[in-house]
Amino acid sequence: MKNFFVIAFIALFISCKTHTPKEVKPLGIVAENAMVVSARKEASKIGLEILKNGGNAFDAMIATEMALAVVYPFAGNLGGGGFMVYRKADGETGALDYREKAPLKAHRDMYLDENGELDSQKSRFGGLAVGVPGTVAGIFAVHKKFGSLPIDILLQPVIDLAKGGFEITEKQEITLANYKQQFLEVNQDTILFAQNFKAGDTIKNIALAKTLEELIKGGKNAFYKGEIAEILVELIKNNNGIITLEDLANYEARWREPIKVDFKDYKIISMSPPSSGGIVLGQILKMIEPYDLSNFGHNTLKTIQVITEAERRAYADRSFYLGDPDFVEVPTEILTSVEYLHGRMKDFSFDKATTSSEVSPGKITGYESMETTHYSIVDQFGNAVSVTTTLNGAYGSKLYSEELGFFLNNEMDDFSAKPGVPNMFGLIGAQANAIEPGKRMLSSMTPTIIEKEGDLFMVLGSPGGATIITSVLQVFLNVSEFDQGMQEAVNAPRFHHQWLPDEVVFEPESFDELLLSKLRSKGYTVNERNSRILGKVDAILKLEDGRLEGGADHRGDDTAVGF
Ligand code: GLY
Repeated sequence: MKNFFVIAFIALFISCKTHTPKEVKPLGIVAENAMVVSARKEASKIGLEILKNGGNAFDAMIATEMALAVVYPFAGNLGGGGFMVYRKADGETGALDYREKAPLKAHRDMYLDENGELDSQKSRFGGLAVGVPGTVAGIFAVHKKFGSLPIDILLQPVIDLAKGGFEITEKQEITLANYKQQFLEVNQDTILFAQNFKAGDTIKNIALAKTLEELIKGGKNAFYKGEIAEILVELIKNNNGIITLEDLANYEARWREPIKVDFKDYKIISMSPPSSGGIVLGQILKMIEPYDLSNFGHNTLKTIQVITEAERRAYADRSFYLGDPDFVEVPTEILTSVEYLHGRMKDFSFDKATTSSEVSPGKITGYESMETTHYSIVDQFGNAVSVTTTLNGAYGSKLYSEELGFFLNNEMDDFSAKPGVPNMFGLIGAQANAIEPGKRMLSSMTPTIIEKEGDLFMVLGSPGGATIITSVLQVFLNVSEFDQGMQEAVNAPRFHHQWLPDEVVFEPESFDELLLSKLRSKGYTVNERNSRILGKVDAILKLEDGRLEGGADHRGDDTAVGF
């Protein structure tokens, strides 16, 4: 018996050690000093120019964030919010929460009709869907704490881009056409982005350039007080919204402690509540840690089973326990503890799927398309920032200010508007994420930085609502467990499970039919039919020789640039 324990201990020890990676040839671009990876080449280039001119990663964050608002209005924004996780060259880490908040006039049942049924039109479209925007407060908080160049130097290239125009890509032509009707309906008028733009056309956004000029002159207050605030409140009010001047004047971004979880030789540093990203990612990693995934192999039956079952349990916890930490007590320590998480996997068997109803009751359907956007930056000084920013749905609430040149979010849909009823990502929630005045809605955004043996290893994140966390997870594991380089890891096909609906979603035509039928025979519901791209990861890997490899997701127009 004693021998058994010794052998079991050694086996566990061996499986928990990082396996020795093979020599990997990078497929992505490689740079000596610094890198920016974002959803659009114009934004990546502006961020890199800031670095080349002596700015740091935080300066580049401000310029990249605003450049995305110009060239990628699908998710880049002034009318939304986001999260930043950072790791400075000296190892100091932290996080910024510039998530939107519920307006002071918001209340728990504001999206229920007279029969108590959820009216999701109201939480997704027009003025009532809008949460108090946080992005502008976010960039000014970053600038105050870490900025090294004046704000006009950071914003001028973005203003030039908005005035000079940017080229519509083929993917952008398609999304703009898809949403044109909604733009017209919500705004009851045509808007800049409702014109029939074709790939190769140039869009100039003079109104947004003017708004950015006001930010240079007046800082954060130019947005949250004064004329811009008045224009916003008027627009929202005229579209059945409830945001007031007081809501805007009160908005503050919050510095937070990121979630830190050890996985083998790695430390995962990711976003804390009000995002679920860091906790859920950490939970999944701790649950799969005892299993020898690298030996099972990449995207094999056993690997998919272990990851799916860990995801099932983590997403079930997400729905019950997580919410805005300024309003609810989140039991982070217990939820991420080894004892709790290894206990969660006790009933898992390779023989057959656990059903989600055994983990917790509920039935839901539906996924949304891509939204949100992520960018990763490493500067020439060794600082790293990982930022995910969003309007929530594509182009947010579709409510657009012609005067100011940007869309407003529909982040209110990220609350649990009715317990047990799914939001647009099929995620359900409970009291912890119920609407309350001034509360931040729960997010899945997972801007993440990973250390290996105390050094910077990887910077990554993704859009994709509920699929953000599982995309970040798989890209990290592709490198750490399956010897892939950064670009290869980003390119690899992905799958996703989120407890409810009780199905595993696979990117289409990417997984072997025999593998999928084996999963079905074990009781998994395989969904390829409704599948689409899962996540859009933009990442940077620090190679062993200190150079940086970019992973820019080919699923979008994403681009890595470096020097
Ligand atoms: N709006 C998507 C998220 O925050 O997860």
